[in-house]
Amino acid sequence: MRVLVSGGAGYIGSHTAVALLAHGHDVVVVDDFSNSKPTVLGRMESLSGKHIPMHSFDLCDADKTEHLFASEQIDAVIHFAGLKAVGESVAKPLAYYRNNLETTFSLLRAMNRTGVRRLVFSSSATVYGDHAPVPYQEDYQPLSAASPYGRTKVMNEQILTDVAAVTDGLKIAMLRYFNPVGAHPSGRLGEDPQGIPNNLMPFIAQVAVGRRERLQIFGNDYPTDDGTCERDYIHVEDLAAGHVAAVEHLDDLREPVRPFNLGTGTGTSVLELFHAFERAVGHALPYEVVGRRAGDLPAYWADPARAHRELRWQATKTIDDMCADTWRWQSQNPQGYPDA
Ligand code: NAD
Ligand code: WQD
Repeated sequence: MRVLVSGGAGYIGSHTAVALLAHGHDVVVVDDFSNSKPTVLGRMESLSGKHIPMHSFDLCDADKTEHLFASEQIDAVIHFAGLKAVGESVAKPLAYYRNNLETTFSLLRAMNRTGVRRLVFSSSATVYGDHAPVPYQEDYQPLSAASPYGRTKVMNEQILTDVAAVTDGLKIAMLRYFNPVGAHPSGRLGEDPQGIPNNLMPFIAQVAVGRRERLQIFGNDYPTDDGTCERDYIHVEDLAAGHVAAVEHLDDLREPVRPFNLGTGTGTSVLELFHAFERAVGHALPYEVVGRRAGDLPAYWADPARAHRELRWQATKTIDDMCADTWRWQSQNPQGYPDA
């Protein structure tokens, strides 16, 4: 298949594009580099040994998006492009609603006009809200989210469900990621957050490489074994394989639109992840325990059985793999991707 990867220069998109190419698919990337750097493209091409056609524009522009679909033959779309910082979404809700909804509208319009009938959408475990029983299962309702960012994912899922119901032949997989971490085993691709990292793993990695003084652990008085929060960390390479599986199984989906959890099914605490990272680095790292971060849930993880059953996918990488690969990326690229 020839797959359009929106946000293909970003963290998960770049790994997925390389995985698609390794599985014999062709890839076209569209990205406006609002949260990524063009230099990632050269690395994706050298890792895959293939040329990757690249279109650089804002997907909110529906006319440019339609022009792209007219100029490239496309069999399927994987839609990663969007803004993803939870805290920033509280400060700039309109920017998040606009970007995360309009990119979808542009793509749906262009797909409709050119007859493209396969879509994989980047959703998030955040759609389970604050009250779903653990492990999270796809049929849980009602979906809700505690931030404008999360609500853009709930809204996207609702919009895609409504559109799929009235579009002949349209098949959509909505992949709900848990906590993506890790990097390409080559150390050439990885997560490159701009500014202070919001998420745990890139923060630990920057402490290890000397860019941050110490990790602050947000609370150790949660009702968990060691008192720190538990999450379902999933290696970005497993996630990329999940997208390949989803694209390849779209035609067999039993419903026009179907959500799938992409997680391991296991919870890992903040302290467990931190100590695993120390093992990867080979020495102790500095941390302090501070107060809870507003909005954090104590513990959740995925029930990944549906993706296993229907997509023939399951995560294979361990927490130690995730830390070793993140450390290889971070130590080889202490400042992330070069500018040019
Ligand atoms: P990322 O920021 O690294 O990648 C997103 C890419 O989209 C970036 O390269 C950015 O430049 C591009 N982009 C953003 N808006 C655009 C626009 N209007 N037009 C064109 N390009 C645009 O993020 P990621 O971690 O790779 O996440 C990919 C997707 O997965 C996002 O939709 C995100 O919400 C979702 N997701 C991420 C996580 C996570 O923790 N990383 C978890 C759950 C869901
Ligand atoms: C993990 C744990 C923190 C940083 C977020 C989004 C979610 C999804 C994935 C997109 C928590 C603790 C963190 C630090 C810490 N993204 N922590 N010190 O909050 O589970 O999920 O990313 O859809 O929607 O909310 O991930 O990596 O921020 O935090 O102690 O400096 O690490 O309290 O328990 P989270 P995270």
